[in-house]
Amino acid sequence: MAKILSGIPLRDKIKVDLSTVVSLIPEHVRPILSIIQVGSLAASTTYIQGKMKFAKEIGISIQHHVLPNDVSDEEVIDLILILNTDLKVGGILVQLPLPTCMNKEKILESIDPEKDVDGLHSVNIKKHLVNDDSGIVPATTKGIHTLLDFYGIPLKGRRILMVGRSDLVGKPTAIALLNRDATVTVAHHLSVDLPALCREADIIITATGVPGLIGKDHVKAGQIVIDVGITKQDEKIVGDVSFAEVLSIVAAVSPVPGGVGPLTIASLFQNLLRKYTSGITK
Ligand code: GUN
Repeated sequence: MAKILSGIPLRDKIKVDLSTVVSLIPEHVRPILSIIQVGSLAASTTYIQGKMKFAKEIGISIQHHVLPNDVSDEEVIDLILILNTDLKVGGILVQLPLPTCMNKEKILESIDPEKDVDGLHSVNIKKHLVNDDSGIVPATTKGIHTLLDFYGIPLKGRRILMVGRSDLVGKPTAIALLNRDATVTVAHHLSVDLPALCREADIIITATGVPGLIGKDHVKAGQIVIDVGITKQDEKIVGDVSFAEVLSIVAAVSPVPGGVGPLTIASLFQNLLRKYTSGITK
């Protein structure tokens, strides 16, 4: 039976550490996280509620700016420019996805890279690419690495298959793995023979949002499977992995919910508080 790689105890530890850090920052200078949501996509609202709950528990305030679906790029950018100069705002997050008619790149590029807690500004992407740790790494990528490190899973030289090539998760995670000397393959929906690619890997990390994509035919004994998929199906949150199918085959698997998800939120607040946490939480 596989070991279950729960993210919850680790999330709780990070929460305690961050609460301590926040309590040491005088209230009037505590960084506020500003979240911009365009439209009212149910999944985005759920993600934001999770961030708000965590923020409250560690003593951080959130400004939630909800803008209508038909807001223009310029209006969003004008708001970002105001937040960039607001000394009380320590982090700015534009909840994704944006409506498809919007210019996502232009909007993300208007965020001050120092306040880009999502690590999606080109300055931070470049720093990540060249392994310069003065930049900000996307929260999900950071959460995956926090989970792997907590369970003592070595990466150096190992064959890792990243399933999914999104700008938010797949690409930055593949780069982070390369930066840690793993042998990385990236698969996507056009990859030929995904089951065979999966079976060649020591570690499979999947972030596609396709429920049940990875099943018993994709895995073999001894592998580690990290499930980053989050999809609402019949009122339940499910991952990319058929958990029950792989459980009796692989060495370790992260659950959904309760695996990487809680660590993604914790990592976002580590990014927000990075200037205050030297040595306590990375
Ligand atoms: N939508 C789903 N996950 C994320 C995230 O980590 N950051 C942003 N900005 N939007 C998201």
